[in-house]
Amino acid sequence: MPLAIIPPMPYKVAVLPGDGIGPEVIDEAVKVLKASGSEIEFEHGLLGGSAYDEVGTPLPAETVETCHDADAVLMGAVGGPKWDKIEPASMRPEIGGLLAIRRELGLYANIRPAKTLRPLIHASPLKEGRNMMDLVVVRELTGGIYFGEPRHRAADGSRAVDSCVYTRAEIERITLRAFEIARKRRSFVTHVDKANVLETSRLWREVVDELSTKNPDISVHHMLVDNCAMQLIRDPGQFDVILTENMFGDILSDEASMITGSLGLLPSASLGEPKSGRVFGLYEPVHGSAPDIAGQGKANPLAAILSAAMMLRFSFGEEEQADRIECAVESALSEGLRTADIFEAHTRLVSTSEMGDAIVAKMV
Ligand code: IPM
Ligand code: MG
Repeated sequence: MPLAIIPPMPYKVAVLPGDGIGPEVIDEAVKVLKASGSEIEFEHGLLGGSAYDEVGTPLPAETVETCHDADAVLMGAVGGPKWDKIEPASMRPEIGGLLAIRRELGLYANIRPAKTLRPLIHASPLKEGRNMMDLVVVRELTGGIYFGEPRHRAADGSRAVDSCVYTRAEIERITLRAFEIARKRRSFVTHVDKANVLETSRLWREVVDELSTKNPDISVHHMLVDNCAMQLIRDPGQFDVILTENMFGDILSDEASMITGSLGLLPSASLGEPKSGRVFGLYEPVHGSAPDIAGQGKANPLAAILSAAMMLRFSFGEEEQADRIECAVESALSEGLRTADIFEAHTRLVSTSEMGDAIVAKMV
């Protein structure tokens, strides 16, 4: 990630815990950030179903303001069965909260690294020896079928429409972002689409090819999304950077995450255009709000903690601090500490906050 200008300390972080296990995992991420040695001011905001319950909207204007004022945003997760029936659907936590804040803050680049961690090699559903993977999904986050117009339902309920729309400019900016990321890795980009069917995919191919010609240091090839879903299981090690549109990226990043052994481990960054040279981003675990285990101390806080590490690295240029957190996570896992989602024989079951404490203790 190009790090042009770093904001002055204390860094201002907007904290949006959200719903379900969001508040529990975010508490641990905040604990770790406080222990990181950086001076950080935290400002909490409401988002999602909890915001809807408290103030009648999943994304209060005050929250948007808090985010605009901050140098970075740390978010938990939103949604749950309690709010699934709200009408209009645009007031539900996912659409009116999460999608709306991504769009409002212009966060078009969703970066989702998925890497097999040695201590968890047995937790992967893939055979040992076939599950080594180190890739980043670069998902376009503010376009495509998630946001396209028209979108409606016929009054008699007999028909519904969603539209997948992309502009050249939207494709260009995310492609260049993917190239930047690839340049710091193995310089290999797999662009994933459905060009044998979709017009938007054919536009993506055209634009990606044009930019590929202008960036000969990056090796680019195209793959159809169904094939990619299969290749991820057959040989996940073949990928370096997967560049793709919004919905394919949503699906493939969940698939990739499971190959690491647990969805509870994967962090993400959602970035916009640099603001006066600063990398503004929203950092959140890839997992959802898991209402079934909320409030029981069972949630895995590692994805949230690793998202905090990504924040330190991308938005604040604190490479060393981020490394320390990531090493502490590996070391806790190597010692056999496990939350319920990744517990197996001969490991030690710990609660959400015990895991957070262990990470802090190891950050020396
Ligand atoms: C994600 C989630 C969201 C998405 C949902 C909750 C709207 O699945 O961040 O991957 O589809 O983007
Ligand atoms: Mg998803």
